[in-house]
Amino acid sequence: VDIKVQASGGNKTSRMPYGLMHEDINNAGDGGIYAELIRNRAFQGSSRYPVSLAGWTPINGAALSIKNLTAPLSSALPNSLNVATGNGSPDSEIGFRNDGFWGIDVRVQNYTGSFYVRGSYNGSFTASLSSTLTNETFGSVSIPSQSKNDEWIKHEFSLVPKSNAPSSNNSFGIQFDAKSVIGGSLDFNLISLFPPTYKGRENGLRVDIAEAFEALGPKFLRFPGGNALEGPNLANPWKWDETIGDLKNRPGRPGVWGYQTSDGLGLVDYLHWCDDMELEPILAVWSGLALDGAYINETDLQPWIDDALAEIEFIRGPASSTYGSLRASLGHPEPWKLSYVEIGNEDWLAGAPSGYDSYIEYRFPLFKQAIEEKYPDIQIIASPSKFDNMTIAAPAAGDYHPYRQPNDYYAEFSKFDALGPENLTLVGEFAAVHPNGGRDWDAGLHPFPWWIGGVGEAIFMIATERAGDRIIGSTYAPILRNMNRWQWSVCMIEFEADNSKTTLSTAYHVFKLISTHPITANLPTTPSTNTSSLFFVAGVNEDTGAHVFKSANYNTTNHEDTPVKVGFAGVEQGRKAQLTLLTSTEGPFGFNDPKIGNNVVKETNEELVAGSEGVFEWTMPELSVAVLEVSPE
Ligand code: AHR
Repeated sequence: VDIKVQASGGNKTSRMPYGLMHEDINNAGDGGIYAELIRNRAFQGSSRYPVSLAGWTPINGAALSIKNLTAPLSSALPNSLNVATGNGSPDSEIGFRNDGFWGIDVRVQNYTGSFYVRGSYNGSFTASLSSTLTNETFGSVSIPSQSKNDEWIKHEFSLVPKSNAPSSNNSFGIQFDAKSVIGGSLDFNLISLFPPTYKGRENGLRVDIAEAFEALGPKFLRFPGGNALEGPNLANPWKWDETIGDLKNRPGRPGVWGYQTSDGLGLVDYLHWCDDMELEPILAVWSGLALDGAYINETDLQPWIDDALAEIEFIRGPASSTYGSLRASLGHPEPWKLSYVEIGNEDWLAGAPSGYDSYIEYRFPLFKQAIEEKYPDIQIIASPSKFDNMTIAAPAAGDYHPYRQPNDYYAEFSKFDALGPENLTLVGEFAAVHPNGGRDWDAGLHPFPWWIGGVGEAIFMIATERAGDRIIGSTYAPILRNMNRWQWSVCMIEFEADNSKTTLSTAYHVFKLISTHPITANLPTTPSTNTSSLFFVAGVNEDTGAHVFKSANYNTTNHEDTPVKVGFAGVEQGRKAQLTLLTSTEGPFGFNDPKIGNNVVKETNEELVAGSEGVFEWTMPELSVAVLEVSPE
């Protein structure tokens, strides 16, 4: 393939071409990027997911029970753990332990913890990290009791283990001397333990996962869902004002993915994530559709529109405003920047056709009008796209979610040609999820991201970049999967409690290569698009002056290599370029398996030198992805 790249004349591209989308699925939040180590730390539950002692076991025969006291820690956290002597020896310290989110990663580092206790006790508590298998203690700390009868008292501590644990099969325990307890038992709640967090943020993010995302060079964060925004039914959408402030005032909620969520990772924490990773927030507000298909009637919609306006004011209103002052009271007087608001999530899906009709007829127009009136600078995004049979009047944008077979991405390479300048589109979720000609939604997803899926995704990403003046940005979804409890198998990163087992999928490597070589203006090419198996985009990064060429080779005639020649107008002979080429060591179906910790993605880096007329030459094997970055003069 012989491609000539012009020196100018292409369209400008989005300054936020790639980002992240987060929702609590696969324990991506609790037990995932939210660094809290204690599972079921506040005995939260609902009629959907009843309150339980999941995660907790007694030490030295203590009797553990959940109590709903008349004087709870808070109205948000009405349940607590009662710890009594039980059948243990009265002479030994009794207590309880938590095995974390299916293990706890114990290293020589500072853990900060806290718990609330209620009851009369004059001794001290011992907090420890120890092996669940052998009881070996890696570190412990003594915490003098300040507890009082009839009052909830917060105890805080830090703990530095003396050694690293050999595995993550560890527990966190709290013990006390039962003989010194007046009244026979103590009540505990909100028992919390954090390792060091990403950028040292209090109530922050797990370091290894956050740093893996940072390495993708993302530019935006779409949150809080996905389906998680919608909630399982009309009573339980994601409610921003129940996710802010002191953890003891966050009730949590029944998630849509089979478990109760704590909302420890709440609205302010998402905004801190944006601050710390320099991401543009794309806030999704609830549009009045639940995942069970129920939706709010027009006459009952206004309180929810007001709620969305309140949320926006909380984020970006002046500290003198009603909700801006609430933000200021939580320690953030400065408004955050918020330029993108999406109304709902996949309103074309749950509850269609009447639910979707209600979105088109009144839900979207009423939310849009109210937000635009108050915040004319905000880019409104509808949750369907032009490709979901919705006519979205500019300046509002749409959201497109292509979960596909790899072949579909190849067949749909020109799909965005249908977008006019008035059809701004966010790709708020995408991923290759089914093998070619294989499973469908009812039969389930592919077990992991796999190589040919990644090449398909590369073709899709290249297509979005070619339409970079109309595509606001794109994000893979879901991004995280806790291997101990998951509902969606195809995710960018798989992880366990043990940080050394975090697995970057084939999709991650492809996304990273493409997202970390930004093009700010496309350059026209001859031929203008693929004439063979090679899919490509060419452009320039105006911030650095580098020319960039991205390509994916897919569906060659006989699985043969494709020789590529790319000549850039204005690039003289002898100019150097860096070629990064990704291939699979295990063919189309290779995948990065967290059980064996392999990486099937082979990356080769080569310096190329321009021949006459600024032409660079290399070979793309069948099913490969490459980025060529030409050094600025
Ligand atoms: O990413 C998983 C789910 O796929 C999202 O929650 C939803 O928006 C989509 O259907």
